[in-house]
Amino acid sequence: MPGQVRVAILGATGAVGAELMELLAQRQFPLAHLKLLASPRSAGTKLSFQGETLEVEAVSERSFKNIDLVLASAGGSTSKTWAPVAVAAGATVIDNSSAFRLESQVPLVIPEVNPQAAAQHLGIIANPNCTTILMAIAVWPLHRVQPVERLIAATYQSASGAGAQAMAEVKAQSQAILAGETPPTHSFPYPLAFNLFPHNSPLTDGGYCQEEMKMVNETRKIFNAPQLRISATCVRVPVLRAHSEAINLEFAEPFSVGSAREILASAPGVKLVEDWDANYFPMPIDATGKDEVLVGRIRQDLSHPCGLELWLCGDQIRKGAALNAIQIAELLLQNQWLAPQATALV
Ligand code: A2P
Repeated sequence: MPGQVRVAILGATGAVGAELMELLAQRQFPLAHLKLLASPRSAGTKLSFQGETLEVEAVSERSFKNIDLVLASAGGSTSKTWAPVAVAAGATVIDNSSAFRLESQVPLVIPEVNPQAAAQHLGIIANPNCTTILMAIAVWPLHRVQPVERLIAATYQSASGAGAQAMAEVKAQSQAILAGETPPTHSFPYPLAFNLFPHNSPLTDGGYCQEEMKMVNETRKIFNAPQLRISATCVRVPVLRAHSEAINLEFAEPFSVGSAREILASAPGVKLVEDWDANYFPMPIDATGKDEVLVGRIRQDLSHPCGLELWLCGDQIRKGAALNAIQIAELLLQNQWLAPQATALV
């Protein structure tokens, strides 16, 4: 590995960890060294990377010595424990969990939307929630032209959002149901195969679940629009990978469908997918493995003169998690922002 950056992946054995490794190789990230970290359960597991076999280590106090960059995707409590340790050891952490996203001194970054926010990091940069990233990629280019006044989202979220185990479980559930057996349910409270249910994240006092509130609070922070009115309904669907979202946008003035389509056709990170004659629009199977968020079915909201409706699908593990994190890392390197700008957050 002849590059300059010494990288550790925390959560290397997970679904996002695997995607991070694939993207580091694919995008020829300038790696000097790659360390794979996970829980003690995975210590000694061997994973291949660019023709080499790397052994997974259990994360410990010593894991971050001589590491420049940590890509963390091992859940909120793991990040809460280890991100400050990594920063104290001199590393910069790009954290995929929700642990630090709303902390005022932690930038919450989507490179296509608010790249400049990354410049001010103090050691930790948060990768937004996957559903929020996919929505923001499609809404930001329109919001820049005419601010969105109100946004209503309904999501159709795949099993991949709950990790590798959940994806395997949906397959096992499908097989069990087809064989007339009781489906195994460990990752979710209910069987997901041949079913759907409101998102299983904990409920908040107002009746919204945490996933819905992430879409509200994170979008406001990323857009720097604290008053933006947003409401979301998040639903788990029996799709393996790639989330879908129906988005209703309300503006102060009418926003023509033609100009929305034109803006989105050239927006970074967006691929316009619309074939009205064939009734063909974005689908999770088409979004799987793709870098772009597929957007289509842009139409006038017939219930409101200043409203637009759109539909999108995006790979939750890729742009919704691993790709966004790697793009943040690339942004830091391109701008020489890798080192924290001021006192480290410990
Ligand atoms: P492990 O495989 O050792 O449990 P996913 O989101 O696909 O379920 O992956 C979660 C990732 O986070 C896995 O790599 C998992 O490692 C890792 N992880 C979970 N808990 C911890 C922990 N306490 N310390 C370090 N890594 C953890």
